[in-house]
Amino acid sequence: MEEKIPTPFSFSGRVLATFKGERELLKVLYTNPLYHKASLLLGIFTIPTNRNALDAIYEAVFNSKIEGLLSPSISFGARCVRKGFHPFTSQEVAAYAGAAVIDACRIKRGFRPKVYLDDPDLIVNADVVQDRLLLGVELVGQEGLHHRRWRIYSHPAGLKSTLANALLFVAGLSLKDILWDPMCGSGTIPIEAAHRLIGLPAGFFRKNEFLFLRNSILSSTLWDQTTKEVDSLINWDAPITIYASDHSPKHLSGAIANAQKALVVEKINFFKCDVSEFPHKESITLMAANPPYGVRLGSPHKAENAIKKALISFAESSATVFTLLYPELERVESEAKKLGIRLDKALNVYNGNLRVWLVRLAKN
Ligand SMILES: C[S@@+](CC[C@H](N)C(=O)[O-])C[C@H]1O[C@@H](n2cnc3c(N)ncnc32)[C@H](O)[C@@H]1O
Repeated sequence: MEEKIPTPFSFSGRVLATFKGERELLKVLYTNPLYHKASLLLGIFTIPTNRNALDAIYEAVFNSKIEGLLSPSISFGARCVRKGFHPFTSQEVAAYAGAAVIDACRIKRGFRPKVYLDDPDLIVNADVVQDRLLLGVELVGQEGLHHRRWRIYSHPAGLKSTLANALLFVAGLSLKDILWDPMCGSGTIPIEAAHRLIGLPAGFFRKNEFLFLRNSILSSTLWDQTTKEVDSLINWDAPITIYASDHSPKHLSGAIANAQKALVVEKINFFKCDVSEFPHKESITLMAANPPYGVRLGSPHKAENAIKKALISFAESSATVFTLLYPELERVESEAKKLGIRLDKALNVYNGNLRVWLVRLAKN
């Protein structure tokens, strides 16, 4: 029942992908709704686990031909995410990697590159996992792609767009479905569902922000062509039915404002109602939700009630699949069992710093 996702380089949450060419890479970069950041991998190097690692990192970066990606007009900054126990800090790794970039440009190309840590044109990712250095250059930018740029109303327990998409992916949402999010908050799940179904790419509202456009690591001409091609395939008139409800008028009007900004307000039917009082239970095929956990906000008792009511609504509805995020798998499983609902899949994911379960429930 529990599934483990393989983790390349022991770095949970990272995926290694290879592409046939730049066009294919650009298309995935623009359309894939599940990733936050992307780094063009320059190399993976084995490093010592003692402080000699810092010199090894300097040497690896110096010899990586990174100077070919820089010019006097491009500023850069080095960053490090570190996993494992090391006798050095992430800041030290970034400082050694940064010094190696400067020296490589100075010695091999005869210029000193500009360092700008706040908002560099080129970000060198020198990440360390145990005895490995993963060296790459950032393609997305400082802010992850879960910031889609349509959010004008923020819910205090708002879900990341990428996690909402993971729920829809695991649910197997297709154009044939009639989806209901019974606790929609600021509308993340229904908005992402509408985008998925009409084929609106994840990078649509921020296509001019990708960092590679500032440093020319990838072709901006090819990017313009790719984004135009993808945008021309958006099916604005796709016949879709999505219901979104919440008992809070404040969150519901926020969700409507977000859907408007996301250009899909007319694709979603919004209702202000309790999860148990939704009037179209008999017409839906799929449910997806991020119920309250009672951990950061609200009371645990109310949260417990809300999940119970959501499961009863699923049992009463015509939907066959319900995907949801919840911190306590046992609670979901035991309540579902009482109602004759099967736990089909359970994946461990992080919602912010909170470890939760992405659960797929199914009937029969
Ligand atoms: C964790 S939030 C959902 C956040 C949402 N996914 C987003 O991205 O903004 C849970 C939502 O459930 C709603 N809620 C809690 N109990 C409810 C109930 N019994 N009926 C309907 N909505 C409920 C709350 O108002 C809240 O907006």
